[in-house]
Amino acid sequence: MRTICVIGVGYVGLVTGTCFADLGHQVTCVDVDAVKIEKLCAGVMPIYEPGLEEMVRRNAQAGRVHFTTSYEEGLAEAEFAFIAVGTPQGSGGEADLKYVREAARGIAEAMQRPVVIINKSTVPIGTGDWVADIVRRYQPQPIDFSVVSNPEFLREGSAINDFLFPDRIVLGSLHPDAAAQVAQLYLSLRAPIVITDLRTAEMIKYASNAFLATRVSFINEISSICEALGADVKEVAVGMGYDKRIGHAFLEAGLGYGGSCFPKDVQALAHMAAVHGCHPQLLRAVMDINRDQRRQVIHKLRALMGTLDEKVIGVLGLAFKPNTDDMREASSVEIIHLLQSEGAHVRAYDPVAMVNAPLYLHDVPLCSDAYEVAQGADALVIVTEWNEFRHLNLPRLHAAMRNPVIVDGRNLYDPDEMKALGFVYRGMGRGYASEK
Ligand code: UDX
Repeated sequence: MRTICVIGVGYVGLVTGTCFADLGHQVTCVDVDAVKIEKLCAGVMPIYEPGLEEMVRRNAQAGRVHFTTSYEEGLAEAEFAFIAVGTPQGSGGEADLKYVREAARGIAEAMQRPVVIINKSTVPIGTGDWVADIVRRYQPQPIDFSVVSNPEFLREGSAINDFLFPDRIVLGSLHPDAAAQVAQLYLSLRAPIVITDLRTAEMIKYASNAFLATRVSFINEISSICEALGADVKEVAVGMGYDKRIGHAFLEAGLGYGGSCFPKDVQALAHMAAVHGCHPQLLRAVMDINRDQRRQVIHKLRALMGTLDEKVIGVLGLAFKPNTDDMREASSVEIIHLLQSEGAHVRAYDPVAMVNAPLYLHDVPLCSDAYEVAQGADALVIVTEWNEFRHLNLPRLHAAMRNPVIVDGRNLYDPDEMKALGFVYRGMGRGYASEK
């Protein structure tokens, strides 16, 4: 059992702290947001993540995880201090490090004993050195510490599983013994551990996310070409994925990537590259394709219906992907704004994310299910591939709509079946099938 402090109770911090407690360590989670901490102490989760509430409750009851706003309390006994705060996008596309700075300063001022400071937030290359510098500057008296970069790869919606069954653990430090100590915390997970230097570890995170985003934009570009040339991108992806060098993951064409990581990280990497004299052409194309992908919905609707002015358009799915309530950088937000600017009346439904909708949307009535969205609608747009939408009663949906037009942004349905049911149906990149 080791003593761990985690700074930040967002997705990464809360999941990391709770999972370490579940592995048997003693964990204190610190956050400056008193409301979030109060809620967590009462067992209320600040985020929606399957399995998290139960895991927090179990470990809190066992006394293995505590929540506090006090750095002093968090650092009193800690041998390890994880920084897991947000790194929002700054005005120029760069990562804004104000919360990382505050966390480093808080640790420096509160630490009572030697501590390994581990950065889990996605931070620009070189931030580890900068954190070390801040800690040195703000320590009231010199106490030994080292800095390790340990980027997190967990996905929203499967975060606990991703923590407990990682593909790899990446640890970077100028002090190999500090990295080795952190490796011990993860030993029971039996994952490959890559130990490297600080900057390389920081780059592994950006390069991984940028590569995955590139796959998504690649298949979306292929999807547009499929549509123009009469091929079906779903089957193209299946055929490509069997090549072991390619694999099946991240080849789903649709409305592009969203969420709190990919858009911000690709942008930040392109920004870093540009200010260091590189020309990140591929990253720029990845972002460009992602933006255009969302606009295709408007193009498809216009092609089918003419003007969208005064049309009633139902949107199914608001979260940036299924199994999360997160609407950050969600395709739904941009698509709804575009529809509204064309004069359409938009209404929407999402199984989980509607609690967050007022933060992002205006004048969008929220419905209690997909059938209510469809009632009297001129068209439906499927934006998020929730399982619930795969199993809709399609004849009932058809009967409810004024015009049975569906633009399926996530290719949930079979174009031939939809046609047989009487829908005017368009998927993404399904040229041949949609023309039949
Ligand atoms: C991502 C990374 O996967 C994770 O390792 C990192 O730590 C944080 O960023 P997350 O943002 O939770 O995780 O979502 P992910 O499941 O990776 O999906 C990202 C976006 O890509 C979603 O908007 C999703 O809809 C889209 N996507 C993904 C596709 O459009 N097609 C695909 O084939 C896969």
